[in-house]
This record gives sequence, C-alpha cells and structure tokens, in this order.
Amino acid sequence: MMWKIVALLVVVLALSLQEVRSKGTEFGVRIPMDFLLTRYNMAEPGKFLRITEKDWTFEQTAPKPHSISAIIVLDSYEKSEGNTVALLKGGPGSQFAKLHAKSQRGHGFNFTIDVYGH
Ligand SMILES: *[C@@H]1O[C@H](CO)[C@@H](O)[C@H](O)[C@H]1NC(C)=O
Repeated sequence: MMWKIVALLVVVLALSLQEVRSKGTEFGVRIPMDFLLTRYNMAEPGKFLRITEKDWTFEQTAPKPHSISAIIVLDSYEKSEGNTVALLKGGPGSQFAKLHAKSQRGHGFNFTIDVYGH
C-alpha cells in the first residue's frame, strides 16, 4: 500500500515539474559547446483593457559575432496563459534576433530571454 502512495506522489511531482518547465518558449536547440551570449528581462506591467506589446532585438557589434543556436524564453508572469513571444527575424543560425512579446488583454508580461550560441 505504502509504495503505491509513494509511486503516486512521484508521478504527481513529475507532472507538476513538467508544468513549470513548459512555461516558456524555445527557438532552436542548445548543443554542448554553446554558451550564454546574453540574458535579457523583458517585463511590462498590464494596462487596463489593453494588449501590451514590445520588441527586443539582439545584435552583436564584435568583429567576430557568434552564431545563435537557441533562444530560450522563460515566462515568469503569474497569469501568463495567452502571453506569447514570437521570433520575427534572425534567431538560430544567424547572428541577430528580433523578438516580439505580446500579452493578453489587461495583462502584462515578464519574459527572461536567454540567447545561446557558439
Ligand atoms: C520578473 O520575474 C523575475 C523572476 O521571477 C522577478 O525577479 C522580477 O522581479 C519580475 N519582474 C517584474 C517587473 O515583475
């Protein structure tokens, strides 16, 4: 009997971790030699009856810019269902990326954007 309860708890815990991890968006795939090129927090408060939108562009000025392999977006906004981040330009395979964040009506957003490359 006891092991059944333990097994059930393990399953419930695994499912809830899955839930937390799925709060976000990923573009591309990280490979072992990648490192973090930049981390950017894109947060805006909600506006009454309005959709909040914002663009962010990652550009490199270094003489040898890195190639982006993955962009991993973590969503920390409390009621974030319906909030989205879209990749407008660039991204994996290029050296720049332009992202567009959009909230649900009446809500804000809080995205942490990690750009990985090599
Ligand atoms: C966004 O989320 C991060 C991580 O949870 C938190 O530290 C930060 O205060 C939040 N920013 C805003 C403006 O809510």
